[in-house]
Amino acid sequence: MRTTIQSVTSPGFGLILAVCLQCSAWAQTDLSGYWKFSIPNGGVAFLELKQTGENISGVGRGGPGRPLSGTVRNGKLHIETPFGPPGGKQVVIYDAVVQGDKFAATRQRPGQPPEQGVLERVSRDEAVPPRLPLPDLQNLPDNGLVRTPPMGWNSWNKFHDRFDDATVRQMADAMVASGMRDAGYTYIVVDEGWSSSRDSHGNIVGNARFPDMKALADYVHAKGLKIGIYSSPGPQSCGGYQGSYGHEEQDARTFAAWGIDYLKYDWCSAFGIYQPTQADLQGAYQKMGEALLKVKRPIVYSMCEYGLGDVWNWGADAGGNLWRTTFDIADNWASMERIGFAQLDIARFPTPGHWNDPDMLEVGNGGMTGDEYRTHMSLWALLRAPLMAGNDLRSMSEETKSILMNSDVIAIDQDAAAEPVEALSIEGQQEVLVRPLMGDAVAVGLFNRGEQTAQIGFRWDSLHLGENLGGKTLSARDLWKHADVPVDGDGFTAAVPRHGVVLLRVEARAFRFR
Ligand code: GLA
Repeated sequence: MRTTIQSVTSPGFGLILAVCLQCSAWAQTDLSGYWKFSIPNGGVAFLELKQTGENISGVGRGGPGRPLSGTVRNGKLHIETPFGPPGGKQVVIYDAVVQGDKFAATRQRPGQPPEQGVLERVSRDEAVPPRLPLPDLQNLPDNGLVRTPPMGWNSWNKFHDRFDDATVRQMADAMVASGMRDAGYTYIVVDEGWSSSRDSHGNIVGNARFPDMKALADYVHAKGLKIGIYSSPGPQSCGGYQGSYGHEEQDARTFAAWGIDYLKYDWCSAFGIYQPTQADLQGAYQKMGEALLKVKRPIVYSMCEYGLGDVWNWGADAGGNLWRTTFDIADNWASMERIGFAQLDIARFPTPGHWNDPDMLEVGNGGMTGDEYRTHMSLWALLRAPLMAGNDLRSMSEETKSILMNSDVIAIDQDAAAEPVEALSIEGQQEVLVRPLMGDAVAVGLFNRGEQTAQIGFRWDSLHLGENLGGKTLSARDLWKHADVPVDGDGFTAAVPRHGVVLLRVEARAFRFR
C-alpha cells in the first residue's frame, strides 16, 4: 500500500488515494468482538462490542457488565457506557478513529480530564477470564487486629488515581507534622492507582508513579505510621488497575514482603466473574482472608463490596476487620447524610476488630460547610466507624484540623463500650442519637437535618445515667464548643444550626462533698 502511494508523483493524488484506501478499511472493519482500552501507567477497561451497520451495542466489562451503545461513522467510533452506582445518569465516553485492530482512543470519565489511551482487540479469555473455584465457606479465626475502629488516611476521596509515591510520602510527613498521628491516625492507605501489571513470575508490580512499594512502606514506617494498599478479588480494580484474581496468595505474600499493614480489597471487576450473592461474595473475600492469615505479618483486612449480601452478617467470618456498608460517599451533604443516617439500622453489628465502614471521611475536601463536616465527624464517631481522613493533609485549614483532631470526638469513636448508637428521638428532620460509653457515660448527638435552625432537646432522665446510684451527679460537656453544659432543670435544649450538630458527653460522677 505504501509503495503505491509513494509512486504517485502528484502529492494531491496521493492524498486522495490514501484517504480512499482508508475508506475501504473502514468499510471492511467489523468491530464486533472484545476490546481493551489501556492508558500508559493507568488502568484498563474491557469492551464487548457488537457492530450492526453503523450501530454499536455491547457491554462494558470489568464491572457489573454495563450496557454500552454507540456508532461508527466514517471511521469515527463513539461509545457511551454508564458510570457510577446503578441508576445514576453519568456516562463514560470513548472516541477514536478506527484503524485496524489497535488504535489511539480517548476516554472521558465524569469530572475528570480526557485520558489518551489505546484500544486494541483482545481474546475473550482476556476480557472475561474464566471463573476459578472459590473455597468452601468456613469461619476464619480472628486476626486480633484493630480492637477499636481503624484511623488513618486514604488517597481516594481527594486524589482518585492521580497521585504518586511523593504524594503519599508527603501525606505521611503531614500526618506527623499536623498532629494527626498523635491524635490517633495511623494507617496511610494507598488506594487505586499504584499497580501496573505483573512481572514474568506473576508478581504484582507498581507502575511508574509507584516504582518501589517496599521503599514507600519503609518511609511510612519510619514516621511511626503504618501503610495500607489496595487490590481487588477481580482481575482489575474499578479503574482498571491490576487486581489479585487468581494470584491471591502470591499477592498476600508480596504485600507482606513489602511491609504492608492493611489491605483494602474492592469488589470492582469481580462483578464480571462471580455473582453478587452472599455465597460468591463470602467465598471471594474468604479466599484473600485465608491468604492474609497464611503470611507472617499482621495485615488489617478492609473489605469493600458496598454492603452487598448484607456483609455485616458474615464479614468477620471471611476474615474481615472492616467492611464497607454502602456505595461510595461523595463530598456533599446529600451523600453524607443519606449514608450516615442509614447506618443506624445496622449499628448493632460491629464488634471489636470487626467494623461497619460507611466509607471514608470527606472532611476538609471543600464540598460541605463546617457544620456539615462536624455532623459527618460526630455521626461517624457515634457509629464507631473507621476514621479514614480523605483530604489533603498538607493544606488543612484550622477548622478542618479542629474537626479531624477533636480528641473528645475521637474518644467517642474509639470508646470500648460495646453498645450501639440508638435514636432517642426522631422528630421530622431532628434526631437525638445516644450511645453508651465506658463508665457511667453516654454520648448524645442532637442532629438537625433540616434547612432552618431548630431547637432540639432531650430529658436528662431519658439517658438513664446514674440511676439508683445514690450520691452521683450528672455532668455534661459540649464537645464542639469545648465547654461544660449546666445540668439543671429537666432537660437540655439547644439551637442547632441547619445541617449541624450539638454533641455532648454526659456522665454520672460520684458526688464529692467539699
Ligand atoms: C470503589 C471504592 C472506592 C475507591 C474506588 C477506586 O468505588 O468504593 O472507595 O476505592 O473504587 O476506584
